Amino acid sequence: MNNSTILVAGAGGFIGGHLVADLLRRGYENVRAVDVKPMDRWYQVFPEAENVVADLKELSACRAACEGASEVYNLAADMGGMGFIENNKALCMLSVLINTHLLEASREAGVDRFFFASSACVYAADKQVNADVIPLKESDAYPAMPEDGYGWEKLFSERMCRHFREDFGLTTRVARFHNVYGPEGTWDGGREKAPAAVSRKIAVAKHTGEPEIEVWGDGTQTRSFMYIDDCVAGIDKIMHSDIEEPINLGSDELITIDGLVDLVADLADVEVTKKHLLDKPRGVNGRNSDNTMILDRLGWEPMTSLRSGMSKTYEWVEAQYLAQSGQAADPTPATVPFKAQPELV
Ligand code: NAD
Ligand code: GDD
Repeated sequence: MNNSTILVAGAGGFIGGHLVADLLRRGYENVRAVDVKPMDRWYQVFPEAENVVADLKELSACRAACEGASEVYNLAADMGGMGFIENNKALCMLSVLINTHLLEASREAGVDRFFFASSACVYAADKQVNADVIPLKESDAYPAMPEDGYGWEKLFSERMCRHFREDFGLTTRVARFHNVYGPEGTWDGGREKAPAAVSRKIAVAKHTGEPEIEVWGDGTQTRSFMYIDDCVAGIDKIMHSDIEEPINLGSDELITIDGLVDLVADLADVEVTKKHLLDKPRGVNGRNSDNTMILDRLGWEPMTSLRSGMSKTYEWVEAQYLAQSGQAADPTPATVPFKAQPELV
């Protein structure tokens, strides 16, 4: 078994937590999990991992985190759904420090492979004006006009990865995630994305008997959503591939936001009415993943159906809502006991 350290940056978050779980499940022994949040706010904590609280915007923290690491997965960023990224552009862009310092520390530490979690938000705005979308292929990121703030940071950091690879010989891999959803992630508080937000609103409607739910935008905007298990599988495949350029990691099952609401209402077996709020953050009108490149290079693409993934997601969000509103005992403690670790900074 691999005895070198694997660093997961952003391990207290949604995708990072699932990645740590997967690495441990597959038998990796030296997994270092780092996040800036206090550990009682991590979505998942595993006693088998080395769990560290540190601010990876600091170069010194990145150096400590990368010490002895063979692989680095950068899933740390100050981010969220449209409600957060449209109103917190400076905070989103400050994540450039995390990736830049992790790259620098990885180079110094002689890390073998470096993974950066990029986003579909790097794609040029003029390719996403119609709800009836042409799926985005990797070359659509240029000429560049990404999502303001968050998307520019991702595009810049993608290029930093490229230049560290070309100039310093650090092996870097970059995946452009398309809206990822599943249990053990943000479902309230303002950073949640549409799948979790809609699940929460439907759960509230079901358990309060108040059928009207608020939907941002006119509901005709389209997206594709990738289930977390596909995301984690794709990260491993891309990390260990020979794919040097940024590649889409997303589902190509397109749905309108109204369609997502209807799907979740059906799963929850509840009837709702939609109140569309046109003044709320809407983002692009339509976005889908063109999976030609990932199919060509890996012979694989995310395949979990939205219905199946949303069924598990709704069930989890509903349980969180019931626990939080005092209608049920906490069904799945967000954290399990962990061994205390010194802070890196
Ligand atoms: P998340 O917010 O759940 O997790 C990110 C984690 O990074 C958080 O726990 C946060 O505390 C941590 N973090 C932030 N600043 C830090 C710092 N200075 N030092 C250490 N840790 C810090 O988000 P996620 O959904 O798990 O996303 C993971 C990565 O994937 C991010 O880079 C995100 O931009 C990218 N991404 C996610 C999606 C999605 O739909 N979830 C889509 C595209 C890209
Ligand atoms: N968040 C949220 N909450 N969105 C809602 C809601 C709600 O209650 N109701 C409707 N929506 C609509 C939004 O207006 C938007 O049009 C659509 O649902 C999707 O919103 P999000 O899930 O928040 O984000 P996104 O798909 O526009 O962008 C996300 O995915 C990118 C990758 O594909 C963001 O999470 C980005 O950070 C991420 O990089």
